Amino acid sequence: MDRLLDLQISGRLLFGSGALGELPAALSRLGARRPLIVTDAGLMRTGIPAQIIDLIQRDGLSAALFDGVEPDPRIAIVAAAAGAGRAHACDAVIGVGGGSALDIAKMTSVMLTNAGSPADYLGTDAVPLPGLPKVLIPTTAGTGSEVSPIAILSDEAAHLKKGVVSRHLYADVALVDPQLTQGLPPHITAYTGVDALTHAIEAYTNRFPHPLVDTLAIEAIRMIGRYLPRAVACGEDAEARYHMSLASTMGGLCLGTVNTGAVHALAYPLGGQFNIPHGIANSLLLPYVMRYNLIARVERFNRIAEALGSPIDGLAPRAAADRAVEAVERLCRDVGIVSRMRELDVPENAIEPMARAAMDVTRLLSINPRVVTLEAAREIYRQAY
Ligand SMILES: [Fe+2]
Repeated sequence: MDRLLDLQISGRLLFGSGALGELPAALSRLGARRPLIVTDAGLMRTGIPAQIIDLIQRDGLSAALFDGVEPDPRIAIVAAAAGAGRAHACDAVIGVGGGSALDIAKMTSVMLTNAGSPADYLGTDAVPLPGLPKVLIPTTAGTGSEVSPIAILSDEAAHLKKGVVSRHLYADVALVDPQLTQGLPPHITAYTGVDALTHAIEAYTNRFPHPLVDTLAIEAIRMIGRYLPRAVACGEDAEARYHMSLASTMGGLCLGTVNTGAVHALAYPLGGQFNIPHGIANSLLLPYVMRYNLIARVERFNRIAEALGSPIDGLAPRAAADRAVEAVERLCRDVGIVSRMRELDVPENAIEPMARAAMDVTRLLSINPRVVTLEAAREIYRQAY
């Protein structure tokens, strides 16, 4: 139980509708004159990066643009983005987009001050020097990357997703404006929202939870249960978008402190080998991992059931814990996420190599509340198949 709490809430957290308007002042405080904007081609079509460039150019700053971030970005994308930053003598990095864009922005910022290649910094605490100042602006509500010290990259050769964990990856400014999520299509709203839910559930039921993080996690679970269906049903529901952005940031604050567990560990091979979006991979596995973990955290699963609005009065604790899993299954169904790996063209014979690959994600499996053996990993994939 008694583990060192290491909670950093980014340099600054600017949260609220219209927060984007604070960007020029935030850059000025950081002394940034030549920021590099890191984003992806899909987001370019929304006009949000153009809006940001306009905003900062009106303030007399010179912005450079890298829009080559891809889904599940390869390690090589970091070098490409850093090259763009060097070519324009950039003095700050602005990440705009979903988790992939924010993670690449974080890595780009440290590659512009550290020698070597991004692959040198995989793992925990391997980045020697602080990066350039960075501002992270999420346009989805799920990843929480804007307040986490983690970047996830795809190692193409190994067909695996690998993490860089470093205090130098924390944002100087996390700028969260729920209005930026209003144009997000329903299916992306759904699976990014379930990613946020997974962060909160895995932190709350972690082997090493912390009361300070519990309050963030359980409240995020409550908000997602209430507002994710509304945000999926109507993207312009400002109240739903506001609470989903808030829940996502709260889920992100659980990452650098308590972190996740077996859902994320088992989701990485699905992303690394079959390019299944992270949120979908999580939602496929979440109910089965919850069922597996249940005996280790019956009381906490009771609280999750309550937070998700399931009545548990009069039920024995073990039966009430099942209600939490059922509520998650219903939520995923309501927001239209596929529930079986077979629906995503994953061949059944991939289960064995995926189970073996997941066993290497020890940084997460070691904090899962129930010990995950190779046989257990296989069985969870089989159930999700
Ligand atoms: Fe995640």
